[in-house]
Amino acid sequence: MKLLLSEKEVQKKVKALARKISQDFSGKEVLLVGVLKGAFIFMADLARQMTIPVKMDFVRLASYGTGIRSAGKVKLTKDVETPLRGQNVIVVEDIIDTGITLKYLSRCLKARRPRSLKVVALLDKPGRREVNFHPDYVGFRIDDHFVVGYGLDCAEEYRNLQGIYVLK
Ligand code: IMP
Ligand code: MG
Repeated sequence: MKLLLSEKEVQKKVKALARKISQDFSGKEVLLVGVLKGAFIFMADLARQMTIPVKMDFVRLASYGTGIRSAGKVKLTKDVETPLRGQNVIVVEDIIDTGITLKYLSRCLKARRPRSLKVVALLDKPGRREVNFHPDYVGFRIDDHFVVGYGLDCAEEYRNLQGIYVLK
């Protein structure tokens, strides 16, 4: 494993993202919707750095297929427990790869008529995009590497690492 982003770099970025989002939604309340499981650590840190009222909920998605990538078909296996209508919803995701997961989730959540819907992703691999999807807030754009740590796993391992590492 090779260190890609240190704990310090990650924390600095999370703080900056929280500040930006808090400014953009100044005077408003937001509902953070974390995508399980990968986003739980990022969301916990992001939420605690935000300076506006924040509520939290989670979704979980499964992608069909045998490979490690989203095989094009995504299913919501755990829905939010909060009505989204009229809320400022911010989807919190660990990483965007093909974009298939978030494109599906965005469409799904938009149908609930939130007041606004934004997406924040800590990491983005734009070089791997298979569908057109642009997050509203991105922490780091990275090359096509498989990364672990800070919530990201490989077969459920490494989620608890403080930094982000490239798995060789
Ligand atoms: P997408 O639908 O291809 O954008 O899939 C995004 C999902 O794939 C993320 O939420 C992760 O769960 C997983 N993923 C993609 N790249 C990586 C990686 O480098 N490390 C760990 N998980 C990844
Ligand atoms: Mg994920």
